[in-house]
Amino acid sequence: MPDEPRVPVLDPAVAAALERVRAAFAAADYTVGGVRGLLGAVAGGALARDEIVPALRATGGGSPLEVFTRLFWLQVPVPVDAVPACDLAAAGLAVADGGELRPLLHVEPLESVTGSGHAGWVVSDLKVRPGSGRPVSADHVVGAGGASASLARLVVHSPVDNVLDLGTGCGVQALHVADPAVGRRPGRITATDVHPRALRLAALSFALSGLAGVELAEGSLFEPVEDRRFDLIVSNPPFVVAPPGGQRRTYRESGLPGDEFCRRLVVSARDRLTDGGYCHLLANWLDVAGEGWRERVGGWAAESGCDAWIVQRDVQDPAEYAELWLRDSVEAGAPGYAERYEAWLADFERRKVAGIGFGWITLRRRDGGVPVVRVEELRHAVDEPVGAYVDGVLSGLVAAPEFSTGWGKLRLADGVVQEQVGPPGAADPERILLRQTRGLRRVAGVGTVEAALAGVCDGTLPPEPLLDAIAQLLALDPSQVRAHAAAVLPELIADGFFTVVP
Ligand SMILES: C[S@@+](CC[C@H](N)C(=O)[O-])C[C@H]1O[C@@H](n2cnc3c(N)ncnc32)[C@H](O)[C@@H]1O
Repeated sequence: MPDEPRVPVLDPAVAAALERVRAAFAAADYTVGGVRGLLGAVAGGALARDEIVPALRATGGGSPLEVFTRLFWLQVPVPVDAVPACDLAAAGLAVADGGELRPLLHVEPLESVTGSGHAGWVVSDLKVRPGSGRPVSADHVVGAGGASASLARLVVHSPVDNVLDLGTGCGVQALHVADPAVGRRPGRITATDVHPRALRLAALSFALSGLAGVELAEGSLFEPVEDRRFDLIVSNPPFVVAPPGGQRRTYRESGLPGDEFCRRLVVSARDRLTDGGYCHLLANWLDVAGEGWRERVGGWAAESGCDAWIVQRDVQDPAEYAELWLRDSVEAGAPGYAERYEAWLADFERRKVAGIGFGWITLRRRDGGVPVVRVEELRHAVDEPVGAYVDGVLSGLVAAPEFSTGWGKLRLADGVVQEQVGPPGAADPERILLRQTRGLRRVAGVGTVEAALAGVCDGTLPPEPLLDAIAQLLALDPSQVRAHAAAVLPELIADGFFTVVP
């Protein structure tokens, strides 16, 4: 990889205009918080469903914030003389049309994953809203959406030097990685994409957001960075599994069959990571007759040679999946809809696909250790952002198999509470549950020994004397209590109920 970026930097006049726009956006408070306050809950909720009428009603006052929101988020023309002077045309974001200014691009503020604070502005192609009567084009550059946010919230918060955003699109992940509120302080960010215009829009996003020095490189998969390693790789890849033929939309479909693009990313990530480096991806995977999804994705992870934590967050049947992505490309109800739907179903039938999973893949390179792989389904709400504690999740997975032989000190994880379930008035509970009130919010049914241990282990003593005292208290055989604990504790450590204290 040459040190010079492979993509031309912005024209200085455009960069200067974008600086003026940034100042005007900041002065108007064109931020997620500002727009949320302006719209209120009802119009904001409608806009999240792509309905702009309530938001149009809420932004008719002519203030700079209302004008920017109408022009760049709702994408409606505004009177030229209502727009704060800031060179939107010179920046390439809007064009004068009679007495009005018309948006050329969609420009949306980005909220920090910490939930408070502003992470920049994202420039993308104009949104194609349902009912517009024209499907999304093949070269569309998509803006920040729900999937982008889901990945951004998964990414580990620890400081990093060298970062790769693969398939950067509008640049949203790079902006999140650099968000000062999270504190990663990356030294160097490289953003790649196969689509040249995506790189151009990412450059606009970075300049508009004041993020300097991002290196942009064009190419597929890891091709632009073949001789480099990164402390952090993030990718919201084109994971949609579409039938062959028809129009391929670069923002969501790779052109490779089935879930092959995601598999290739997973199995080739290790060579691009430094020791201890993380790779976070969103992915779709197929649940194929005769091969369960866990085995399929677990096989990718095993081949990767990394520690892997793979979480299925959602699953859809073939019809639901086809409908979702036909809606996404605004093809639902358009001419040819039935044929496209049919093609999707036929392709899944031919591949014997029973369902399509969506989820998170986290890989960590750990030189010198035996990789651990965990594949699981978590459909319930978890604490966000997961990136704030994902390194603890990986540490638990690695510590668990070692614990059965090592017998280190244990500490009950923060936020774990005990619940007892049984008939009212009964002396003893029927079931004892340990519940995480934060983090992944897991619940585990446990026996009296683990519950008692949870009550006393604060990280100061190894478990053996604690287990012996519990055996005595419960009038049980100490060797049986130790054997029981050795059998059940690794799972509770892997699930994050107990932490191994170094
Ligand atoms: C779902 S969009 C993600 C955009 C953005 N990173 C986000 O998080 O919202 C996928 C991106 O991958 C790019 N892409 C498609 N095929 C690719 C390939 N073979 N190699 C690298 N990037 C690719 C698309 O152009 C698009 O920008």
